[in-house]
Amino acid sequence: MRIEQHLEARARAAICECLGVQAPALIRPTQDATLGDYQLNGLLPLSKQLGKPAKELATSVLPGLLKVPTIASATVAGPGFINLTLAPAWIAKQLQDDMGQSRLGVTPADRPMRIVVDFSAPNIAKRMHVGHLRSTILGAALVKLLRMIGHAVIADNHIGDWGTQFGLLLAGMKRTESSDPLRHASVEALERIYQDATALAKSDASFLEEARAELAKLQSGDSENRSIWERLVSISRTELEQLYALLDVSFDYWLGESAYHNMLEPLVNALLEQGIAILDAGAICVFFTEPPELAALKTPLIVRKSDGAFLYATTDIATVKYRYEHFQAEVCLYVVDSRQKLHFKQISAVIAKLGLPVTLKVVDFGSILGADKKPLKTRDGGTIALYALLEEAQARAAEAVKEEGLDVSEQEMLRVARAVGIGAVKYADLRQNRLTDYQFDWDKMISFQGNAGPYLQYAYARVRTLFQKGGLDFDAFEAAPITLAHPSELSLAKQLLRLDEVVHQAAESYLPHVLCDHLYAVARQFSNFYQECPILKAAPKERLSRLSLAKMTALELGMGLELLGIEALERM
Ligand code: ARG
Repeated sequence: MRIEQHLEARARAAICECLGVQAPALIRPTQDATLGDYQLNGLLPLSKQLGKPAKELATSVLPGLLKVPTIASATVAGPGFINLTLAPAWIAKQLQDDMGQSRLGVTPADRPMRIVVDFSAPNIAKRMHVGHLRSTILGAALVKLLRMIGHAVIADNHIGDWGTQFGLLLAGMKRTESSDPLRHASVEALERIYQDATALAKSDASFLEEARAELAKLQSGDSENRSIWERLVSISRTELEQLYALLDVSFDYWLGESAYHNMLEPLVNALLEQGIAILDAGAICVFFTEPPELAALKTPLIVRKSDGAFLYATTDIATVKYRYEHFQAEVCLYVVDSRQKLHFKQISAVIAKLGLPVTLKVVDFGSILGADKKPLKTRDGGTIALYALLEEAQARAAEAVKEEGLDVSEQEMLRVARAVGIGAVKYADLRQNRLTDYQFDWDKMISFQGNAGPYLQYAYARVRTLFQKGGLDFDAFEAAPITLAHPSELSLAKQLLRLDEVVHQAAESYLPHVLCDHLYAVARQFSNFYQECPILKAAPKERLSRLSLAKMTALELGMGLELLGIEALERM
């Protein structure tokens, strides 16, 4: 149940009944829980419209609000807000109902859509960098969140498998007579060839020419280059799959840039024919007269260079067309860093000119910073090897589990260290508003206290252990009637009941940290409740009610962690 939505509808009706006008109630959670649970803010703007003090309006609306069964009390405050407190019996009943449902009461979106999430998308033959890690973690969480509220989501890994790097790689390999990439069967080796070739191309114009020629040969279907390319892609792909397996991230498609190659020529011709693109100094370009911010920039989008080559942008236009035609996509989300915002604004504008009814949305994010507050790099300034980073996370997690004195056997340790280590890295990323930069800090990340992944995993395991201690089968335990007598029971229940609202907010604004904040609040409230209220030792009726509350807590934490891509362990 989406409580804010529910209260908004009821409060609107009360405003209409008592004041005779249709107006938004503007319901928001209160900042200070001692004042009430939700606040009605809509009477302040209304007071200008009706020419009456907001306080007076608020007083007239109160009787209407008090008739709503959900609301236990309503009080006028400040210049004309109304603080609302939910009725405990209603909360208890609602929670019990939600617990019986497989999605814990999470409701579907009003209008389910077909959404392609374009995320991760590393470049072949180059190592993935931390920016790709962020895209991978965020993208995977968004896929799950959007599916949770009923959208049809396609997870697509738009790998960079067709760019200029292949010209350099091919020319570099041929120069050093090492065109057999099997001798360099690691991305690291390919990366070295690529780096040397890039350096050479800067000082040696004839080598740059060679690289161009090799790329052109590849793109026009030369069989030798094609077969080298295929092997390069497969070497990279093997390494990538390993990383995704460790991260437990999967895709429905891997449609990389190369998949669209055959669409590019006809696309550019169509752009010319429709007058969307024009020939300008040998290149084919799209100029923008709208939206105003693109027009003001006066930078055209080049879709074909004067040497005939197509660009990253050309492929992206073709990709949207493909997604519309094959997947009936209505929305494409791009989980990329902020530097690509302009690029996608231009692509969006071209898509609009083409008349394709697809909305493009950039879900951008900030940087991961090192201890020096500069973008995270290795000591010598190189890109961090992600696999090594994740291995370190697991080793550190094993240490932390031992230090914490958790009850984990030698046998279980590997699995626990993996869940805790990888989970901690993911959570550290997801708990931040994606738009902010954040500092990579092992100690804060792998912590059993505070807003960190391990703390939430521990809270989950604690409930499961409680059931075990009581000799109860967690899964078979059925929700009993809940009584919310103790203040810590009531605040836990109120927090738990926010799940539906939170999942919608996180999914609709593409902000997983909203869910993280909620889960952290649930874990904290549970910890208070657990300290203040005996559960197994309580009187029979109370015991059942409290066990129900505990079970709902674990179900919610479990579901929340799953949405974030973090494994919840039954024991630790
Ligand atoms: N390969 C690109 C990069 O590493 C990201 C691709 C994003 N997706 C897209 N459709 N352009 O920066």
